[in-house]
Amino acid sequence: MARLTSFLLLLSLICFVPLCLCDKSYGGKLFPAYYAHSCPQVNEIVRSVVAKAVARETRMAASLLRLHFHDCFVQGCDGSLLLDSSGRVATEKNSNPNSKSARGFDVVDQIKAELEKQCPGTVSCADVLTLAARDSSVLTGGPSWVVPLGRRDSRSASLSQSNNNIPAPNNTFQTILSKFNRQGLDITDLVALSGSHTIGFSRCTSFRQRLYNQSGNGSPDMTLEQSFAANLRQRCPKSGGDQILSVLDIISAASFDNSYFKNLIENKGLLNSDQVLFSSNEKSRELVKKYAEDQGEFFEQFAESMIKMGNISPLTGSSGEIRKNCRKINS
Ligand code: HEM
Ligand SMILES: *[C@@H]1O[C@H](CO)[C@@H](O)[C@H](O)[C@H]1NC(C)=O
Ligand SMILES: *[C@@H]1O[C@H](CO)[C@@H](O)[C@H](O)[C@H]1NC(C)=O
Repeated sequence: MARLTSFLLLLSLICFVPLCLCDKSYGGKLFPAYYAHSCPQVNEIVRSVVAKAVARETRMAASLLRLHFHDCFVQGCDGSLLLDSSGRVATEKNSNPNSKSARGFDVVDQIKAELEKQCPGTVSCADVLTLAARDSSVLTGGPSWVVPLGRRDSRSASLSQSNNNIPAPNNTFQTILSKFNRQGLDITDLVALSGSHTIGFSRCTSFRQRLYNQSGNGSPDMTLEQSFAANLRQRCPKSGGDQILSVLDIISAASFDNSYFKNLIENKGLLNSDQVLFSSNEKSRELVKKYAEDQGEFFEQFAESMIKMGNISPLTGSSGEIRKNCRKINS
């Protein structure tokens, strides 16, 4: 009897303790081997389509990375962002943060089409976005990480949450932090994930306010480095030219590195929401300095925070569905 008891105790230690640990670090029911039997080639399929798209246009890495963020902050990482308008769905693509800005939906369609060919009805659109975000980091020189999988797709979208939950570039530091906190992300996640702005572009309309009329009294943002500001005014006129693009990282917009943080220390962050990470909060400023000095620290934290963001309220079990077409719910 004693032997049986100790055997059972040992068994439960071996089986359940690791399970509990996995459960915690993978946000509940998500785990990397989710498609090991149903679609073992999922990682490779996504990677190869993303690689081709990024080879055609480097910026696509930035655009895909951003889609995952804009998906996860609205009802969790559930592919809601990918739905087009139809029936009761009002597409999130028309929200303020996404309109004339979010892009890469055609590449997501290509990934999904390839998956449907090789593993029909198996891999969710939400997981496609998560994997594509990781691949986008790797393909531009950023960190890699193992992606927990098993998200299912929503049967609805939320235009209002897309407008309200996703931070705006002229939000204050406190507003941005509370929008992250509401998703279970902390100040370290905020600073590390903002490091995504080491790649990609912003439209003039997203930072014009800082250049000409920061606080409504006709003066620019005085924290903006003078010569940098003068250059930006050349590219981004006081009126018109809303869609003209500028790089988010003036040092190296095509490569995922820690130069974003070096820019902030020199007051050369493009968006107001970038610069406030250095100018508005002591803890945040220390994190910016740390990542500017040590790219390894940034990469490690970025990977950890991306996994955390990817774990926001996934649909699992029998919730949601596996969409056949990422743009519409299954009939
Ligand atoms: C912290 C609050 C954040 C704010 C206020 C913010 C805001 C913005 C804005 C305004 C743009 C330019 C959009 C345009 O003008 O078309 C942008 C671009 C971008 N954002 Fe953020 N963002 C934030 C956090 C993040 C996070 C957490 C990620 C990813 C994890 C991210 C990834 C990107 C990328 C990669 C781009 C470039 C996209 C492209 O070139 O297509 N951002 N962001
Ligand atoms: C932020 O930008 C939006 C859109 O351009 C504008 O309507 C709003 O007044 C700005 N908010 C502040 C506090 O400047
Ligand atoms: C600056 O913005 C304020 C309020 O948003 C507006 O009333 C004012 O006319 C603007 N000033 C200039 C010089 O554009």
